[in-house]
Amino acid sequence: MSKSISGFSKLSKSEKINWIVSTYLSGSEAAKSTLKQYWNTDNKLQKLHDEFIENTISNYYLPLGVAPNFLINDRHYTIPMAIEESSVVAAASKAAKFWMERGGFKTKVISTTKIGQVHFIYAGDFEKLQAFFNTVKSKLIEATKPITKNMEKRGGGILDIELRDKTEDINGYYQLHATFETLDAMGANFIDSCLEQFAKTFKAEAENGLEEQVEIVMSILSNYVPDCLVRAEVSCPLEELTEGKLNPELFAKKFIQAVTIAEVEPHRAVTHNKGIMNGIDAVVLATGNDFRAVEAGVHAYASRNGKYTSLTHASIEKGIFTFWMEIPLALGTVGGLTSLHPLVKIALDILDKPSAKELMQIVAVAGLAQNFAALRSLTTTGIQEGHMKMHLMNILNQFEASHAEKEVIIEHFKTNTVTHSAVVDALNHLRLKNK
Ligand code: MEV
Repeated sequence: MSKSISGFSKLSKSEKINWIVSTYLSGSEAAKSTLKQYWNTDNKLQKLHDEFIENTISNYYLPLGVAPNFLINDRHYTIPMAIEESSVVAAASKAAKFWMERGGFKTKVISTTKIGQVHFIYAGDFEKLQAFFNTVKSKLIEATKPITKNMEKRGGGILDIELRDKTEDINGYYQLHATFETLDAMGANFIDSCLEQFAKTFKAEAENGLEEQVEIVMSILSNYVPDCLVRAEVSCPLEELTEGKLNPELFAKKFIQAVTIAEVEPHRAVTHNKGIMNGIDAVVLATGNDFRAVEAGVHAYASRNGKYTSLTHASIEKGIFTFWMEIPLALGTVGGLTSLHPLVKIALDILDKPSAKELMQIVAVAGLAQNFAALRSLTTTGIQEGHMKMHLMNILNQFEASHAEKEVIIEHFKTNTVTHSAVVDALNHLRLKNK
């Protein structure tokens, strides 16, 4: 049977499922009904989700959780998080409470500039190109007025356009490097539309204004946004850095050692930053933002000095423990999915309809809290204790444990080490006993 098809996109949703099921899933009726089981019973709502992408066959659920007790700049927040990984929300909540009792998180937006580039090739003389660019720059901006009008009314728009000579990297390669302020919009569509208009105007003007041809390669925003930066920080007197039996000096020492290792050792830095992204991505996703863009930009920033390093830093000065992070985040709270996805609207309402700047601060805090929780576990009990406790529920669900079975097993593992085989053994034992 052929496993390729033409005209797939024109099939109805049911026809698409039939083809997938008969071609790849041995005609399984169970698979077909699982795909359909995840459709929303509200047809209008389902249609909305179907139309987010192409060739939709079902919905892919992620849990939407909330982490309460975040105190950010003296204001309380409950942060919505969409994530599949157990223990992330629990860890965020625990870190939030810990820091709520020690003054909370302090945050600051450092900058909000976004970047886009028109990449082009020009074989002529650079001086002439520069002189030509200087004469057409205002025309480039003028021609985008229909696109920028509304953004400008709200105080945003194009900040500047520069001509950049990249011929040291590639023969004849230049850029129109543009900067933008997109306010509460993430701005991808706005920036890309401006860039495509720059490219059109530039090319048209070059036909008469330059002897050599300008060959446009592409026009696209950059997800590397080192000037769209937010800082999040927590601090407290060293002696308050404790919980239960933990010695604060010892804990701080080990915690700072862990951060320092991530600062100098790329293998550790990647995992360290991954833990930060557990918090960041979950909020980015819950608020309808583009987590791939954020991921790409954040990791590029982590290697901005030529070596991949930790995004967070920690110090003790004059008896004060401080833990902080500066991170680039291009986020939006209007446009895109934010006004379309009903759960995104609720997530933004839970956060009291934040501006993009406020959301940058909330997201950064979620990342810092997550890293604090991970490092606290790693340098004290080890990560598996918490992880496996949360994973316990996944294992129990995998073996379709009943509510009563779950209660007994969870009680048992309050005092026993959770491993996959120990949980399976305990469940089998219980089932035999109850037979
Ligand atoms: C797991 O998702 C994240 C951690 O590995 C982060 C870290 O090691 O810092 C626990």
